[in-house]
Amino acid sequence: MQTAIEIRQQIKQLQIIPVIALEKAEQADPLADALVAGGLPIAEVTFRTDAAEASIRTMSARQDLLVGAGTVLSVEQVDRAIDAGAQFAVTPGFNPKVVRHCLDKELPIFPGVSSPTEIEMALDHGLQTVKFFPAEALGGLKTLKAIAAPYQMIRFIPTGGIGADNLAEYLAFAPVLACGGSWMVKPALYADGNFKPVESAVRKATTIVT
Ligand code: 3PG
Repeated sequence: MQTAIEIRQQIKQLQIIPVIALEKAEQADPLADALVAGGLPIAEVTFRTDAAEASIRTMSARQDLLVGAGTVLSVEQVDRAIDAGAQFAVTPGFNPKVVRHCLDKELPIFPGVSSPTEIEMALDHGLQTVKFFPAEALGGLKTLKAIAAPYQMIRFIPTGGIGADNLAEYLAFAPVLACGGSWMVKPALYADGNFKPVESAVRKATTIVT
C-alpha cells in the first residue's frame, strides 16, 4: 500500500477525483477505460451501491489507475475496501471510529468536514487533508476561504456541486489539493452502455486543470 504522502501527491497532480456510483460491477472496467483514456486515472468508488466492492476489486486489479473507496460509513466498509484493493478512503463526515480504523490499517483517509470544529478533529488525528463537503451547498469558495483561513497546514478536497463551470475557481485557491465530483461520471452518461461521453467529459475536465 502506498503511504498517505504518496497518495496525496498523486491526487495533487491529477487535481480531480471522479466520484463514482456504479450499479453493476461489469461497468467498472469500461468506466476505468474511459477515465484512463480521458487522462484522469483515478476513481473514488462510493459504497452507495451494492456493486461498490466488486467494482473496487476490478479497478484495483488493473493497476493503471488509483482507486479509492468513497462514502465509507463504517469500520466494516473500511475492511472491505482494503480487502478489495482500495488505496485511499473518503467519507462524507468525520466519524472518529472510521478515521482511527483507517489510520490503524495505514489506509490514507480524507474525511468530510464542514466546519472548523471538524477540521480540528482532523488535526487531532494527525490528518492534514480533508474533504470539504458539500462544498457548494455550504456556500462554496467563499465559505471555504473563511473556514480555511486559520488552518494554514490543512489541504482541502472540495466536493459537492462542483462541475466544469466552477472547477477552475476552486483549483485556483491554494489550499485546495483537488476537487471531487460526479459530473464526468454520471450514470446518465453511460446508460446506453457507451462510455465515450464519459471519456469526453473527463478530457474536458482535464483541460480545465492547469
Ligand atoms: C460525493 O459523494 O462526494 C458527492 O455526491 C459528489 O458530489 P456531486 O455529485 O455534487 O459531484
